[in-house]
Amino acid sequence: MSNAVCIGAQWGDEGKGRIVDRLSEQADVVVRFHGGNNAGHTVVVDGVTTILHLVPSGVLHKDKLCVIGPGCVIDPEVLLQEMEMLSARGLLDLGAGAGGPRLVIADQAHVILPFHKRVDKAREAAKGTRKIGTTGRGIGPAYEDKAARRGLRVHDLVEPDRVAEFVRHGVMYANSVLEALDGEVYRGEELEHMIARLREQGQKLKPCVDDAGARIAEAHAAGKRVLFEGAQGALLDLDHGTYPFVTSSNCLAAHASVGSGVGPNLLGRVLAVLKAYSTRVGEGPFPTELTDAQGEALRQKGGEFGATTGRPRRTGWLDLVALKYAVRINGVTDLAITKLDVLAGFGDIKVATAYDVDGVRLKNFPHDVRTLNKVVPVYQTFPGFDGVPERIASLDDLPPAARRYLGFVQESLGVRLSIVGVGPGRGQELVLNDVLA
Ligand code: IMP
Repeated sequence: MSNAVCIGAQWGDEGKGRIVDRLSEQADVVVRFHGGNNAGHTVVVDGVTTILHLVPSGVLHKDKLCVIGPGCVIDPEVLLQEMEMLSARGLLDLGAGAGGPRLVIADQAHVILPFHKRVDKAREAAKGTRKIGTTGRGIGPAYEDKAARRGLRVHDLVEPDRVAEFVRHGVMYANSVLEALDGEVYRGEELEHMIARLREQGQKLKPCVDDAGARIAEAHAAGKRVLFEGAQGALLDLDHGTYPFVTSSNCLAAHASVGSGVGPNLLGRVLAVLKAYSTRVGEGPFPTELTDAQGEALRQKGGEFGATTGRPRRTGWLDLVALKYAVRINGVTDLAITKLDVLAGFGDIKVATAYDVDGVRLKNFPHDVRTLNKVVPVYQTFPGFDGVPERIASLDDLPPAARRYLGFVQESLGVRLSIVGVGPGRGQELVLNDVLA
């Protein structure tokens, strides 16, 4: 089997973009299978930083087919901006080369409409201290309309006659929510302008719209290698994350199948990406959070500010209880540990190995956030290390204390360590096993 799924094992921001960029060297097709532009996948090549919100991170390799799968929600405005940015940099031929566009947008994907964003923000504002801390990109309301079976799909967006009908229907519901929340409702000119703009955007995207599942299956049958690129992380999964402080899509490896329109037999190995420590952006439980100077130092050294919203990320120690859960629910076969360099110079390093609640040791990661808010992490302390080389050719190039730390994490999680990241740039990672072999 030569395909693989790459997912986040924590609360997102694990560095999946740079890992997917590296693995894309060997892949032929790269597929985003859920979420939308709440994601911000950062890739640094020759000192140039690119943040991708919707287009798969494989796009930085010129010959790869990139697919935005049916499980995604697409803001046409943002996607067109991203496509134009990539085109201006010579990475995407919007006039479409001889083989047709190398970006495929699933015809079944749902569209994020302007009122989804307004509802998202109005709802968060109304929740006050009970807010989720969403990215405000309309992701939740778009998935809600999908589940309510009134969503606009990409194949509708490209049909000008259908846009008005869907939008008027959707606005009726959005307006009722906005009215209840004292938000600004849509009517008259604003509504007509929205419809006209969406029609225009649909026509611009049309050349890329196709049956994503069929295209992926076709490539696989022709012996091509497919890499499925997850967004967010296991603990933000709608069903298995720290509900209700989660995103509104399924982030787990199994969803790569449903979210791409291919059978689970195509998925291959499951690579979980995790940072050498933990971060979380937005509200919700975070048992190993550091709210002191050390947490601030991690944030500054690790550049822990949201790639999408710029918000400061919360920081903390690695949490093996949560990670064991993520490994189990994703069926992880391989680990990629990123940002090891950020831990250099921090003195002793702690890792949570168990949770206690009211003096009782928990067997598993709790599903109820009320319990999770009460857990007391049990820590194991490791001696720190001072520096990590900018590039490494083998684990032997790392300080012994860093090797011990990695070894402990790998052994605790019980799956092979396949990639270690020691810096943000392309090439600043050591590949120990070929995940797409
Ligand atoms: P939403 O996905 O915008 O609805 O936000 C729901 C929660 O998921 C919030 O806590 C966000 O901060 C978090 N979230 C969504 N996307 C990402 C991501 O790509 N990285 C990290 N956190 C995310």
